[in-house]
Amino acid sequence: MMKGLRFNNVIRRAAVLCSLCIMLSVNIAIGQYNNGKDILENSFRLAEQQYCNMLKVSKKLNVFPRSTGKDGKIRYTDVADWTGGFWAGGLWYLYENSGDAKWKQAAVKWTEALAKGQYNTAHHDVGFVMYCSYGNAWRLTGDPEYKKVLLQSAESLSSRFNPKVGSIMSWNPRLSWDGKTLWKFPVIIDNMINLELLFYASKVSGNPRYSQIAISHAEKVMQNHVRPDYSSYHVINYDPQTGKVQNKETNQGFANNSTWARGQGWGIYGFTMAFRETGDKRFLETACGMADFYLNHSNLPADKVPYWDFNTNQPGYTPVWKYDPAAFSEIPRDASAAAIVSSALFELSTYSKENQEKYYTAAVDMLRSLSSQNYLAAAGTNNYFILKHSVGSIPHGFEVDSPLIYADYYFLEALSKYKASLVTRKKS
Ligand code: GLY
Repeated sequence: MMKGLRFNNVIRRAAVLCSLCIMLSVNIAIGQYNNGKDILENSFRLAEQQYCNMLKVSKKLNVFPRSTGKDGKIRYTDVADWTGGFWAGGLWYLYENSGDAKWKQAAVKWTEALAKGQYNTAHHDVGFVMYCSYGNAWRLTGDPEYKKVLLQSAESLSSRFNPKVGSIMSWNPRLSWDGKTLWKFPVIIDNMINLELLFYASKVSGNPRYSQIAISHAEKVMQNHVRPDYSSYHVINYDPQTGKVQNKETNQGFANNSTWARGQGWGIYGFTMAFRETGDKRFLETACGMADFYLNHSNLPADKVPYWDFNTNQPGYTPVWKYDPAAFSEIPRDASAAAIVSSALFELSTYSKENQEKYYTAAVDMLRSLSSQNYLAAAGTNNYFILKHSVGSIPHGFEVDSPLIYADYYFLEALSKYKASLVTRKKS
């Protein structure tokens, strides 16, 4: 009897131990986390490790890490490019999360290295460059010198506004992919993000002109870039004399009538921000419609990290550039689009009562996917960027399945919003 009991206990303990081992190894194998805190701790730890190394190898203050080049090394860009501000912005998020002065020191140094960007009137991206760097610097320090730089940046961006068109010109005139269209006044959906700088400038200066420009621009994007089913065109070409739409095309997507995943992401993020700044319900409806298009799309993979274009290789969509499907064993994913959308959905979930849980859950799901070993780099790899598997531009043939500094930036932003939500949701 005694012997039998002991034997039963041994069996029971062994069974419990076995199931614990199985649960643990399943969790490790699929890169799962037990709770939000696990995601945050693991991803921020990895980000700090990567960016410590990035700081060690990036010494020249006139060039900024952007991606991995064709030679396999870090690809840097200068202040004239659209991506310079994301590196400084990421450092600000690390400072905000940790409170560690070493990140602030690095963030200040790399932000101030972008100072001459405030005078850039050659393209619309002054908003991306200056608001992601100086905007975060102002938010976290309140230093009035940063405000001055941001106001000059808003002035530079506003100089590209054409009242006849009602929009800011994204790029200077150029030819379309097939060389048949002269884009005289191209506006790309990405430009929604630059509007945040203008809303900020009106708030701190009291001059309504900047936000009037932003509202006019957002209304035009809503009318002409966003389709009735809330998918989006990438490029709208206007006639600068009459303000009329001439062409609806793409620059970085699969086809003129397709939906480029990151473009859709810029729209979701941009209209969420435009609603925050104006309270205009039309912007909220547009943000929700675009988010629903993304989340409900039959081509969205289960991990919610999209293919680079929702319509790649589909009947009815013809690429306007030379495309060789055999070049890819599978359609590339774009982690940058998922990072942008995750960040946007954390905010959108707080504005849309009826969709609150749907958007919040989707934002967390995306963050969970990006924080898994499928997308999060192992320490010391990936040229010290945080996320793997993004796409810069397939038509241009660069940064395909590459790390991208803006994927990192929006990932860190989404993590920060997630962290804040764990506190606010507990309270309410
Ligand atoms: N704004 C350019 C891009 O998203 O690639």
